[in-house]
Amino acid sequence: MKFFIDTANLDQIKEAQDMGILDGVTTNPSLMAKEGITGTDNIMKHYVDICNIVDGDVSAEVISTDFDGMVREGEALAELHDQIVIKLPMIKDGVKACKYFSDRDIKTNVTLVFSPGQALLAAKAGATYVSPFIGRLDDVSTDGLNLIAEIRHIYDNYAFETQILAASVRHTMHVIDCAKLGADVMTGPLKSIVGLLNHPLTDIGLEKFLADYKKGN
Ligand code: E4P
Repeated sequence: MKFFIDTANLDQIKEAQDMGILDGVTTNPSLMAKEGITGTDNIMKHYVDICNIVDGDVSAEVISTDFDGMVREGEALAELHDQIVIKLPMIKDGVKACKYFSDRDIKTNVTLVFSPGQALLAAKAGATYVSPFIGRLDDVSTDGLNLIAEIRHIYDNYAFETQILAASVRHTMHVIDCAKLGADVMTGPLKSIVGLLNHPLTDIGLEKFLADYKKGN
């Protein structure tokens, strides 16, 4: 299972990268705005800064909602760095743009996916990644993890190669449940990754080992 971090915060990206377990980064316009990164030029530069920190795929989201605009923006983003993945919204023109980019071997991530039918369309269009938003489904009393299971089932039926990127992950149990269900990738905040380290028995055990070592020295 690949671990992506869902942030535009460079310090957090560096922290996850330094642990040696990071496989990529996802961003979106809201995450950019949260870091105070505004304006096309600054946003483009920020994508390059992110690519220079991590080794893996970095999703960069288009803001156009029409096919021509998505293609224009996506081509400019793809030119920035070979780690860039074009993130496209799950709308009709987004599906069409996904097919356009996949036909040209440019990686894509179809985002804002909330149903198995949408995931099926993304796979048919040759998406590299499909991003079902599990946390946002949970927010409206719908089982987000069930969507991961449904997409896994459908993709396995037809051996679709599109990778299921569980997005809108909010906490460590989402990560573990997504791993059990066979999601190919998860993207979440830093706390959902470093939180996996925590267990009181690890802390108690380490404290005792170190104390016993000191007794003998
Ligand atoms: C996915 O790529 C999105 O950036 C993200 O996971 C959305 O998460 P949120 O629902 O916590 O905003």
